[in-house]
This record gives sequence, C-alpha cells and structure tokens, in this order.
Amino acid sequence: MVIKTATYLISSPDYTKCPKPVFPEYAFIGRSNVGKSSLINLLTNNEKLAKTSGTPGKTQLINHFEINNSWYLVDLPGYGFAKRSMSQRKQWEKMIEDYLRKRENLVNVFVLIDSRHNPQKIDIDFVNQLGEWEIPFSLVFTKADKSTQAEVSRNIKAFLNKMKETWQFLPPHFVTSTVKKSGRDAILDYIEELNIQ
Ligand code: GTP
Ligand code: MG
Repeated sequence: MVIKTATYLISSPDYTKCPKPVFPEYAFIGRSNVGKSSLINLLTNNEKLAKTSGTPGKTQLINHFEINNSWYLVDLPGYGFAKRSMSQRKQWEKMIEDYLRKRENLVNVFVLIDSRHNPQKIDIDFVNQLGEWEIPFSLVFTKADKSTQAEVSRNIKAFLNKMKETWQFLPPHFVTSTVKKSGRDAILDYIEELNIQ
C-alpha cells in the first residue's frame, strides 16, 4: 500500500471522544517504550507524526491518525509502566478496555512485543485478555536490530510456543526495526488486505 496522506486528528481521553467511526481502524498497543509511536512513524514515512521518547510513558491518550482519507491508525498508551500509581493504572485499564471492547470500527489490534526478550508474563496476559474479549489481533516483534537474527527468531518461537499452551490457532506475526526500516511493507499489505474484506 502506498501512503499518500497521514494526518494527526485528535487525542482522546476515552472512546466516546474518538472521531466518528466512519473508517476501518487499526490500533497499536504493547508495553510502554516497546516502539508503538516509532512504528507508526515508520509505517507513515513521517518521523514527526507520532511523538516518541526514550522515556517510557510518553503516549497517554488515544491518538487518531487518518491515512489516505480511508482508514484510521491509532497510537495507544503502553502498559506496564512502573512509574504509574495504582489509580493511574486503573484509569489506563478502563480507558483501554472500553476502547478495545466498544470501538465499533476497530478491525485489528497490533500487539507489539520487544524481540529482545523471552516471553514476558505481562504480554502473554494481555493477548489472553484480548482472546477472552474476542478482539482480533496480530503480533509485531519490534527492535529486531538490537539482537542477532538467531536471538530474535528464538524469542519469537518461544512466545508462540507459550501461546500454544492456551491457543488453538496462532495469530499472524511481523518483525520490525525502525532503525533498519524493516517490516513496513508486510504490515501495510496486511492492513490493505483487511481493508478490502
Ligand atoms: P510509550 O508511548 O511510552 O508507551 O512508548 P512507545 O511504545 O510509543 O515507544 P517509542 O516509539 O516512543 O520508542 C521508545 C524508544 O525506543 C525510543 O527511544 C525509540 O527510538 C526506540 N525504538 C523504537 N523502535 C525501535 C527499533 O526498531 N529499534 C531501535 N533500536 N530502537 C527503537
Ligand atoms: Mg508512544
């Protein structure tokens, strides 16, 4: 897919304030600092579109971008941010659960996983939660430039094996690096395929 236009629309504190659900929507979520905003910038070829930061907890609201005047891309705040208070965490959980379960035009959630690590409980718990809520998702293993290819493959395999303990079917997965600018086409093609259906 060719990205002709990518425009920031609005940052919303909850799903009721999001833009009218007139286009198919794709959301990016995952641990704080995993690279959600950077990936959105890679996909749209615009390094300044979504705000990124070396400090976790940068993205706090539900951020909508309109792509090619035909679909929405959404940057969400990450989970597992240690410096949040219990009440902030509860607030995040409610915002995200409501958004994921009630946003009627949401087609697919991309769950980002740091490819440097062994399967982390927090990520496994999150995808299991999506399963319980029956929300379609795919996995994106990020920061592939930070380890050897063999290590990345091992971590992906371990994550999928962990999922096999509870899942009958495994979701599609992608591998990305914003440094090497890799993984972009596969994700955009996948979104295009889903848009046609
Ligand atoms: P929050 O909004 O805080 O939840 O973080 P986020 O998931 O949006 O992460 P963000 O895109 O802000 O990136 C966090 C840090 O990781 C930044 O310093 C990025 O430059 C870095 N980063 C993101 N993707 C990659 C990647 O593929 N490779 C490398 N080497 N660094 C990356
Ligand atoms: Mg972010």
